[in-house]
Amino acid sequence: MPIPLLAQGFQEGFASIPYFYTVLKVVPWVLLVSALKYYFGGARNGSERLMHSKVVMVTGGTSGIGASVVRELATRGAQVILLTQQAPSDIFLVDYIEDLRRTTKNHLIYAEQVDLSSLYSIRTFATKWIDNVPPRRLDMVILCGNTAVPSSQRRTTVDGLDEEWQVNYLSNFHLLSILSPALRVQPAHRDVRVIFTTCSSYIGAKIDLKQVEAACAPGAFESSKAVKKPKTPTSLFGASKLALMIFANSFQKHLNSVERADKMPPCTRVITVDPGYTRTPGTRRWLTGGSLWGLLLYLITWPLWWLILKSPEQGAQSILYAAMEARYGRGTGGWMVKECQEVDLARREIKDEEIGKKLWQFSEKQIELREKEGAVRRALEKQEQESKKNGSSTSGAKEPTPGSRRSRKTK
Ligand SMILES: NC(=O)c1ccc[n+]([C@@H]2O[C@H](COP(=O)([O-])OP(=O)(O)OC[C@H]3O[C@@H](n4cnc5c(N)ncnc54)[C@H](OP(=O)(O)O)[C@@H]3O)[C@@H](O)[C@H]2O)c1
Repeated sequence: MPIPLLAQGFQEGFASIPYFYTVLKVVPWVLLVSALKYYFGGARNGSERLMHSKVVMVTGGTSGIGASVVRELATRGAQVILLTQQAPSDIFLVDYIEDLRRTTKNHLIYAEQVDLSSLYSIRTFATKWIDNVPPRRLDMVILCGNTAVPSSQRRTTVDGLDEEWQVNYLSNFHLLSILSPALRVQPAHRDVRVIFTTCSSYIGAKIDLKQVEAACAPGAFESSKAVKKPKTPTSLFGASKLALMIFANSFQKHLNSVERADKMPPCTRVITVDPGYTRTPGTRRWLTGGSLWGLLLYLITWPLWWLILKSPEQGAQSILYAAMEARYGRGTGGWMVKECQEVDLARREIKDEEIGKKLWQFSEKQIELREKEGAVRRALEKQEQESKKNGSSTSGAKEPTPGSRRSRKTK
C-alpha cells in the first residue's frame, strides 16, 4: 500500500496524495509522545521466577502499586496474604479477592485485617501469626502500605500519632519487630525477602526526633480529624521514608546478628525499592490536595500526568524485580533497587549505626508508651459500655419504640 503511494508521490508530486502534509506534521509529534511515554515508563522486570508455593505477605496490596505487585505474584502462583484495613468480611474486599482469584486463576489469596494506623491491630495480627505452632511458612513480606496527607492538612491516628509517621514508618517497625522470630525460624535453605518501598523524598528529608515527638504530642493538632492550619505544619512524609530506610538497614543487621538455632547463616534479606513516580490513588490524593478544585485541575491536566507518571503496572516493576531476581536470594542483604537495578543510597545516615540505634530505641519507646495508653483507653471504654449495659438492665425500663402503643400512652 505505501509503495504505490510513494510511487504516486514521486511521479505526480506529494501534494497529489490526500492528507500527505497533515500526516507529515502529525507523525513527529506521535513519535515524540511515544518516545517520552516509553522513557517515563521506566525499566521492566526481566526476571522470570516461578512463585508457586511461596507465601507472600503484602501491606497496601489492595490499590496502587501494591495491587499490581499482588496481581503479578498471584499470576505466578504465590500464596498471597493481604494485610488490609478492612475486615475480610467487608463486601468490597470479598468482591476484590473473588475477582483476583478468578482473573489470576489462583485461589490462594486471603486477607487479614491489619490497620496500619493502629498499633493494637498490628500487634493482634502479628502475635497471632507468631503464636502458630509449628511456625508458618513465610517467604516474603512486601511493605507497600502508605499514606500521603495533602500538605494543607495533618491527621492523627487512633494512637494519637502523626498519620504519615505511623502508617509509613512506625507500623512497619512494629510489624517486623514482632514478626522477626517468624522470619528467623524459616529453614536455612529458604530464600526469605523483606521488601520496603520508599520514595525519593527521603533524599531531602531531615530526621529530627524532637520534631517527630512534637508532631506526635497530645494537642499537636486541633482535633483528631483532618484540620487546616495545624500547630505543627511540617509534613513528616519525607522523614517517615528516611526513618523507614534507616530501620531497613538496622533490621538487616539485627537479622544477621542473631544466631540461628541450627547455626546456619541467616536466610532473610532486606531490599529497599523506589518504584518511581506512579499514577496511583495516593498520588492523585496528594496532587489534588484532597479538594474538589484540585480534582478538577487534575482532570484537566490529566494528559500530562498520563505522560510523565508510570502506570501502577510500570511502578510495580522494580518491586517485582526485587522479589524475583535470583541474586537477591544470596548475600548479606541491605540493597537498594530503583529502575530494576541496584543503586547507591543517597544519604549516608541510612548506614550510620549510631543513628539507627537511636531511632530504634526511640521507636520502641514511642510504641510502648502509646500501647499502654491505648490499653487503658480500651479498658475504660469497655468499662463504660458494661456499666451502660448493666444500668439499662437493672432499670428494666425499656425505651418505648416510637409510634408504638406504649409510646403513645406515655405522651
Ligand atoms: N505512587 C508514587 O508515585 C510513588 C513514588 C515513589 C514511591 N512510592 C511508594 O510506593 C508505595 C506504594 O505507593 P502507592 O502510591 O501505591 O500508595 P497508595 O496508592 O497510597 O496505596 C497505599 C496502600 O496502603 C494502604 N493503606 C493506607 N492506609 C492504611 C492503613 N491504615 N492500614 C492498612 N493499609 C493502609 C491502602 O489501602 P486502601 O486500598 O484500603 O486504601 C493502599 O492499598 C509507597 O511506599 C510509596 O511511598 C510511590
